[in-house]
Amino acid sequence: MKLLILGAGGREHAIAWAARRSSRVTELVCAPGNGGMAAIARCVPVNLSDLDAMIALVEMEKPELTIVGPELPLSLGIVDELAARGFRAFGPTKEAAMLETSKGFAKRFLQRHNIPTASYALCVSAAEAREAVERFHAPIVVKADGLAAGKGVLICESRQTAIEAAEGLFSGALLGEPASQVVIEEFLEGEELSFLCLSDGKHVVPLVPAQDHKRIGEGDTGPNTGGMGVYSTDSLLDANMTEWILRHIAEPTVRGMAEEETPFQGVLYIGLMMTARGPQVLEFNVRFGDPETQAILLRLENDLIDALEACIDGKLAETALRWTPGASATVIASSAGYPGKYPTGLPITGLDAAARIPGVVVFHSGTALKDERIVTSGGRVLAVTAAADTLQQALDLAYEAMGEIRFDGIYFRRDIGHRALGRA
Ligand code: AMP
Ligand code: GLY
Repeated sequence: MKLLILGAGGREHAIAWAARRSSRVTELVCAPGNGGMAAIARCVPVNLSDLDAMIALVEMEKPELTIVGPELPLSLGIVDELAARGFRAFGPTKEAAMLETSKGFAKRFLQRHNIPTASYALCVSAAEAREAVERFHAPIVVKADGLAAGKGVLICESRQTAIEAAEGLFSGALLGEPASQVVIEEFLEGEELSFLCLSDGKHVVPLVPAQDHKRIGEGDTGPNTGGMGVYSTDSLLDANMTEWILRHIAEPTVRGMAEEETPFQGVLYIGLMMTARGPQVLEFNVRFGDPETQAILLRLENDLIDALEACIDGKLAETALRWTPGASATVIASSAGYPGKYPTGLPITGLDAAARIPGVVVFHSGTALKDERIVTSGGRVLAVTAAADTLQQALDLAYEAMGEIRFDGIYFRRDIGHRALGRA
């Protein structure tokens, strides 16, 4: 099969790596791809915010399957457009993607279907937000409605700062674009968990759980990032809790979307807060997580392409996923200055030595191939991933590999997995 993967990050490199292990994939194209994907696929340029350009690329390449990595093309309706032209694509339709693209839609959906989530108020003006804030105790969470690449969520220590945050979102002062809706939300306390599952529109099959580390600094301090590291172990969630989340959160979500005639096919990423009153939905994403995917796919024993096609064909009920027991961990190497401004084009060395360590796979997040050399090209640069029998062993391998890698200003957190290790 000829496969096309849309995207340029570590998540897409991990999907490409898994696709290369499938006996069914005979030709692999990544658009636009990155320096790491270029070693295992043919990379072709495309602008992921240009729907017409992506459609033209698919019409030219004629892949038998397109896997859409990031949310942006999904939010533009790439899957609907490809389906209308007779092309198979993995990912939700534009309407089903609203679970991620509109926090207002997601909150109302959760409420309609009695799925546990933080209590909230949906506001369409600063005046409404000022009134709504009075009903909440600090800290108060203020969220812009649309896609904001992680920058649209503000945790406010007082009612006054919550009002200022809502005003800043409505005026456009905070995100550049004025928000049309703002969610004011109760602050939830607990540990976060990334619960990803596949869905064919009716059935749900969970992937192994993972825990992300979103803050830039060790001890979970400093600004939010796209994710600085992640780990996956079976002990993150016991069988009872997994069952509870499926019964009360994942299955009602997929059933609700089907009842509303916007069936969800693809990967549903449920961001959960494990609170004292049970798991609560923080957010939905309608795609694989990054860096969750890197750690999760390292543990998958099935052919990934079979599983993703089962979602498209409504045959997920016949699919049983098999996982390597034990643990996996991903540590992100980022550019100096990330998540703020950072330099690019810096040469990276040590990648071969890192990859020779058994159990280690180095996925590329923001790299490019320049004059036959791999250079930095993004804020998150590499996702150094390892699998082993225990989390400690997986982390040791990932950090050993990280020790081989060099580029100017390289930064990584040394405390990935600290919560799980603290419990052990
Ligand atoms: P979101 O994009 O909605 O997932 O929010 C980004 C991050 O903000 C989450 O991963 C949490 O760390 C934090 N967050 C969002 N909503 C809440 C909430 N209601 N209570 C506490 N933290 C939250
Ligand atoms: N790791 C967070 C995300 O993919 O949104």
